Amino acid sequence: MHPMLNIAVRAARNAGKVIVRSLEQLDKVEIESKGSNDFVTSVDRSAEEAIIETIRKSYPDHTIICEESGILKGADDNVQWVVDPLDGSTNFIKGIPHFAVSIAIKVKGKLDQAVVFDPIRGELFTASRGKGAQLNNTRIRVSSQKTLAGTLLATGFPFKHKQHSKTYMAMFASLFEQSSDLRRAGSAALDLAYVAAGRVDGFFEIGLKPWDTAAGELLVIEAGGLVTDFTGGHNHTQSGNIVAGNTRLIKELLKTIRPHLGQALSN
Ligand code: IPD
Ligand code: CA
Ligand code: CA
Repeated sequence: MHPMLNIAVRAARNAGKVIVRSLEQLDKVEIESKGSNDFVTSVDRSAEEAIIETIRKSYPDHTIICEESGILKGADDNVQWVVDPLDGSTNFIKGIPHFAVSIAIKVKGKLDQAVVFDPIRGELFTASRGKGAQLNNTRIRVSSQKTLAGTLLATGFPFKHKQHSKTYMAMFASLFEQSSDLRRAGSAALDLAYVAAGRVDGFFEIGLKPWDTAAGELLVIEAGGLVTDFTGGHNHTQSGNIVAGNTRLIKELLKTIRPHLGQALSN
């Protein structure tokens, strides 16, 4: 295993311990609102601290971009860790056991290493650039589904961006009519990991943040899939509008989504 991936895995497992311990004492968790339908808990913060501490021990000079603490610029900005300590906070707050720790490492702006860890199921999804993607050390691949008929798709509702609800519902309706079924499980990092593992055939969501998708994107790519924005381009890290799947299915997803895009979502 790449030495940096090894540390990322250690950091994700440390954060996972913090999260699982806290789930057993949910009544002690402090919850704050940081935006519209956007909550942060004392657990998000402690899990993030555990990750930062683990990274800093081995790589004190690297930059760490964290959801909760912001950008911690290091002397060596060529290497950037992109961290979501708890993806699926709403599930966690409600005691729904579906969430993950997501850690990606970018080298000179390119995704290089990725970990998505589901501490409840003990599922560790990892990827190294050019070396494939694994679930608990076994190689994973995206599904080979070529048309929407028969697909199981994952999505996230734009609950933090309700101005897009009409557009989203129109996309959803078109995809629902053509696919077999859709899932809204509540963790974008796991949605992307599940695309990588072929558990779902495709994924789309509006307005995600870089820490939601960075690790999942490398998993999908290394599992033989593709991640794009809503026009098939590569602006998804900026726009947060994201589509993932195998190359054939992405074309079908984009064809269905495109007619519904207004100016605000055309990237
Ligand atoms: C959220 C989850 C959710 C997605 C949201 C994200 P958080 O991340 O990934 O599935 O629909 O858009 O913000 O806030 O739980 O880390
Ligand atoms: Ca997230
Ligand atoms: Ca989070």
